[in-house]
Amino acid sequence: MNRRQFLASASALTVLPHYVSAEGDSVTLRAEPVTAQVLPEGEGLTEMLGFNGSMPGPEIRAVQGQPISINVENGLDEGTSVHWHGIRLDNHMDGVPILTQDLIDPGDTKTYSFVPPDGGTYWYHSHYISHEQVARGMAGPLIVAEDTPPDVDDDITAILADWRLDQDGRLTDEFTDMHSVAHAGYMGNFARAFLSQATVRIGDRIRLRLINAATNRIFPLELSGATGVVVALDGMPLAEPRPFAGVVLAPAQRADLILDVSGQIHLEMPTRQGPYNLAKITVDGTNNARRAGAIVPLSPHNLPKPSEPTQHLVLTMMGGAMGGRHGGDNIWAFNNVSDLQPEPFGSFERGETAQVTLVNDTSFPHGIHLHGHHFYEVAQDGSLGDLRDTTLVEAGESRDIICVFDNPGRWMLHCHMLSHTVGGMRTWVNVA
Ligand code: C2O
Ligand code: CU
Repeated sequence: MNRRQFLASASALTVLPHYVSAEGDSVTLRAEPVTAQVLPEGEGLTEMLGFNGSMPGPEIRAVQGQPISINVENGLDEGTSVHWHGIRLDNHMDGVPILTQDLIDPGDTKTYSFVPPDGGTYWYHSHYISHEQVARGMAGPLIVAEDTPPDVDDDITAILADWRLDQDGRLTDEFTDMHSVAHAGYMGNFARAFLSQATVRIGDRIRLRLINAATNRIFPLELSGATGVVVALDGMPLAEPRPFAGVVLAPAQRADLILDVSGQIHLEMPTRQGPYNLAKITVDGTNNARRAGAIVPLSPHNLPKPSEPTQHLVLTMMGGAMGGRHGGDNIWAFNNVSDLQPEPFGSFERGETAQVTLVNDTSFPHGIHLHGHHFYEVAQDGSLGDLRDTTLVEAGESRDIICVFDNPGRWMLHCHMLSHTVGGMRTWVNVA
């Protein structure tokens, strides 16, 4: 088997080149073709799409509660739009063609302005033919600095993705291959994380922000060389930090870790062939100044408190290969309906609390994302669990979520396995 017919271990990866960041209250992102070193240094380059010459796109640094404007220039030869994933922003800044804006035509610029209400780890990505534009590289980190950031020595972003590459590093052109769309989605044969910083000191306490920017791959993750806890998921602080062991990131999900460094750090994905190295953070020197102390939770965000739900809706995922109920007129559907229709799946009064049961009646996992809001995953015992913007529902399972629909507008609700989105697993809700 050649090394790219399966996920060959990338343990040969040397220190990764880090990517740039864009700071300030006005930032320009130019969408354009780029050449990226996706494979290890010395191997083939990959022609991709990106922003400002870079894939992943530059890390945008915003500040909680402070306005930011991002000018998106379209240097592509096709339309585009950019979505600010996980930010509770005004609907007309959400970046969704048809629902919230017109396409940005080639040569045009659109300015997105918003005030990020919550600190944390977010990301941006194309929301137009995203199964292809994101697979080609149109994504980057969006970091919102908290009013009271945790006490750490380094703040490192790792953005993860996978790509289907040939021997020379060329991206193969199979984004809409029907077999993938009807199964788990277009999957890469090479995966890695891009790091904002690749060296730390032994003894450092670091914040590591993990972003799954893959179009379809779910990453189970393991880490060595550091110990610590998960302090936030999808940008939302956990009331009680929890152990890292067993963290799984569905497409679009994020986890913030706080870790104490004891040696070279390996971020790995367990596979049947053994651990697959996604990134390596090397150590250089020792930090003797850090006084050990407990890792404290991040300060909670100010989200509306749910009240007794006034609506209880059911959203059943349908379609795909390998059995499962079919409906709608595309490969995938919600409640017998495929793709965006004139009528929303749900209509809510502004501020209304609703409960939605997500039923996975298919043979594949789906990561369901709601725009413009975070929602609570309801735990087995009925209590409110984690606040998320994307929730992973395994094949044959169901999950209840509770959401306070307090953000007016037309919001997309879709599977974030982008092959499934294009295959029809998308709808929208209206908040009036
Ligand atoms: Cu991350 Cu509808 O998107
Ligand atoms: Cu899906």
